[in-house]
Amino acid sequence: MPELGVVDSFTVTFIVRRFNPETDQEAYWENFEVDLYSTDRVLDGLHKIKWEQDGSLSFRRSCAHGICGSDAMRINGRNRLACKTLIKDLDISKPVYVEAIKGLPLEKDLIVDMEPFFAAYREVQPFLQSTSKPEKENLQSPEERARFDDTTKCILCAACTTSCPVFWTDGQYFGPAAIVAAHRFIFDSRDEAAQVRLDILNSKEGVWRCRTTFNCSEACPRGIEVTRAISEVKQATITGLRR
Ligand code: SF4
Ligand code: FES
Repeated sequence: MPELGVVDSFTVTFIVRRFNPETDQEAYWENFEVDLYSTDRVLDGLHKIKWEQDGSLSFRRSCAHGICGSDAMRINGRNRLACKTLIKDLDISKPVYVEAIKGLPLEKDLIVDMEPFFAAYREVQPFLQSTSKPEKENLQSPEERARFDDTTKCILCAACTTSCPVFWTDGQYFGPAAIVAAHRFIFDSRDEAAQVRLDILNSKEGVWRCRTTFNCSEACPRGIEVTRAISEVKQATITGLRR
C-alpha cells in the first residue's frame, strides 16, 4: 500500500524501433531501462531516454497534452498518442514496445513522412466554401451544428489512417482522416461544395475502399466515430446529401 501522497515509481523496459537512414540498412529494436512514476506518460519515458541515455532518439511532439496530434505512434502494437498513454495503464511487467506508425515512409526512429497523409487531406478541400455574402453572422440551428460536431474534433494525428489495413496495402486510398475532414464540411449547412467532395470521395481511391474494419475508430484518441463518419459519406454518395 503506497504512503498517502506518494506516487509509485518503477523501472520500465522500453523496446524502441530505431532507424537512422544515414547508418542503418534496416530498422532494429533497442532496449532501454527507464525509471518512471505511475503518473508519467509514454512520452515522459521517451523524453527520459532522449535526455539521459541517447540524445539521438528521434520523435515528434509539441503540446504534450493531446492537442497538436504530432506524437501518434504504435505502442504495444496499437496506435496511440504517447502523451495520452499513462504508464499505469500499461502492463509494465512486460516491456513497452514503441515504433513508428505504419503505412507512411519512415524517416528516422519514430518519425514518418506525413506528406502523403496531408496530400490526401488537402485533396478533399477541408475548408468552408460559400458564395453567400451575409450582412450578419451566418447562423445555424443547434441541430445543424450538431450534425457534424463529432468530426470537428479531429487533430490530424493520423492514428486512424495508419491503423487501416487498406491504407497499408494501397498507398492511394484517401484514408479515414481525409474522409473525416471531408465529412466535417459535407454536413455543414453553410457549405456549398459538398457535392464536389462527394464526387472526389466516390472515386476509385475514395470511400469505397473502406472495408469497415473499425481499426480507425479504435485508434482515434479523440473518440471520433470514424467508421460511422465514413459510412455517412458513403450513404450520401448513394442517396444524396441529407443534412
Ligand atoms: S480522426 Fe481521430 S485518429 Fe484520425 S486523424 Fe483525426 S484525431 Fe487522429
Ligand atoms: S504532443 Fe501534442 S498531441 Fe501529443
